[in-house]
Amino acid sequence: MTNVALYAVIGNPVAHSKSPLIHAAFARETGQEMRYEAILAPEDEFAATVASFRQRGGKGLNVTVPFKLEACRIADRLTERADAAHAVNTLALDYDGILGDNTDGMGLVRDIASNLKFTLTSARILLMGAGGAARGVLLPLLQNQPRMLMIANRTRSKADELQQRFSRYGVVMSTDYADLRGQQFDLVINSTSASLKGELPALPPGVFADGALAYDMMYGTARTPFLKFAQEQGAARLADGLGMLVEQAAESFFVWRGVRPKTAPVIEMLKSHARQSDA
Ligand code: ATR
Repeated sequence: MTNVALYAVIGNPVAHSKSPLIHAAFARETGQEMRYEAILAPEDEFAATVASFRQRGGKGLNVTVPFKLEACRIADRLTERADAAHAVNTLALDYDGILGDNTDGMGLVRDIASNLKFTLTSARILLMGAGGAARGVLLPLLQNQPRMLMIANRTRSKADELQQRFSRYGVVMSTDYADLRGQQFDLVINSTSASLKGELPALPPGVFADGALAYDMMYGTARTPFLKFAQEQGAARLADGLGMLVEQAAESFFVWRGVRPKTAPVIEMLKSHARQSDA
């Protein structure tokens, strides 16, 4: 038994996760003594796997697919952002119980605001999708006081539900894709899972305002269908979700350790890995 603090990412599947690489880089850079593992939990044994990790002295977990809802249920306390998201991607295991947090939205906001230097305040934002990924980012986006945030979804009723739930945090509207015709936005975010299937939500042409940023929360070596569409439509700037991935990890690291790691070198490292595996 060592005194090195133990953390892990838990999911199913989990082998592809970049979290161990990212957190090892953060630990090196900040000089924190910690170990970070990847844990494959059987689909019906999430709570038991967390309990045995805790017994081994585990201090914190990143939670990934398909356990973000279940992590919400096993937490003794939730932060406001996890409660609003109805999903937990970060668990802090301490003496007085399990704290559930959600750092996805803050990760997105930091990537957009700090890394990409895009001003969210007073921006017109279009958020495509109304699933778990959208729920996770709504509160942190609205806390930056955009001029308005439009939620568009193929199944409009789900966008309407989110609109009702989040309208107390800012100016939120909901629609389907067809009704977006004739409207323009400074920031268009794709939170749908369409890119995973090589698909594109049915966005009408002309939604990108001058200078607009198109942001796909997915990332990969190839450009997503949404980013290709955005480029053809003249969007001024394109970004995928790699920066968000690193920033949400940094925010979890901060929740656990109280230290904020530098993210730029890690984003660069992952980009160069991607270029190498592409070559
Ligand atoms: P996640 O947790 O990743 O957000 P989810 O809760 O299943 O996953 O939500 C997936 C989102 O992607 C939904 O908004 C879904 O739209 P519907 O609610 O209409 O199903 C959206 N989505 C998936 N494939 C899509 C496609 N081809 N075109 C448009 N939207 C799509």
